[in-house]
Amino acid sequence: MSTTTAVGGSERLARVLPDALAALHEVLERHRVTEEEWHAVLRFLTDVGRADEFILLSDVTQTSVLIDAMSHAADDGATASDVEGPLYREDPPWREAPVKIYEDYDGMGECDVLFVSGRVTSTDGTPLPAVVDVWQTGPDGGYDLWDERQPDYNFRGRFRVADSGVYEFQTVVPKPYTVPTDGPVGRYLDAVGQHPWRPAHIHFKVSAEGHRTLVTQVFFPGDPYLSDDTIGAVKEALVRPIERHDGGRGGVDGPYATCGFDIRLQPARGG
Ligand code: BEZ
Ligand code: FE
Repeated sequence: MSTTTAVGGSERLARVLPDALAALHEVLERHRVTEEEWHAVLRFLTDVGRADEFILLSDVTQTSVLIDAMSHAADDGATASDVEGPLYREDPPWREAPVKIYEDYDGMGECDVLFVSGRVTSTDGTPLPAVVDVWQTGPDGGYDLWDERQPDYNFRGRFRVADSGVYEFQTVVPKPYTVPTDGPVGRYLDAVGQHPWRPAHIHFKVSAEGHRTLVTQVFFPGDPYLSDDTIGAVKEALVRPIERHDGGRGGVDGPYATCGFDIRLQPARGG
């Protein structure tokens, strides 16, 4: 359901909403929910809205994963999509080659430099001069938005891919982290006994002319939360090995890591 149809009071809205309410009424009746309990639910939803946490709520209830699966069920031969999450920031800085998506900062601590590379193609193998937009946490688990030590937009950036489709960027190996727990969604997680951890990952948003924009994430083997992601977003097809190397490379002294991630985009329908 597109935003326009949902907001515009369309035929789709008129069909989906009564069904959703009938399902809700059935649950309220089955559990004999009291007036007091229902008012607590309404207060909770009000708090979620005020804290701008509806996307987070959709994610931790694994509703986003369900919508992602239904939206991409017909994709054929494309890289698997994944949930965007609430931490994407519009208009990240453009990064020029050789692409590095972070600046070192005071208190950055120990981290493993990582070069991620691959090729962007269409599902038939044609290379695509795409735009790749990536975002991830810093080396001790935090996004720039939560970590005042980091420069704004650190560990975020977009860059243009050459006609060959080949890309590479420098980052650091991310670590597992917890989704925000200081708001109403944190209270929800506590109440239902759900942990807030996500496995380490890098988010990608990749666009190219004539193709569906791909939103996805890459995960790494051996992560303790790979089979227990609080938003349930890990897909086997998106787990990529990291290789460790001794010696320096590209302005990096000492050991570094590499990870390969080829990206195939689905041609747009009718295009
Ligand atoms: C994230 O991966 O950035 C994320 C996803 C869902 C909830 C919170 C964060
Ligand atoms: Fe994330």
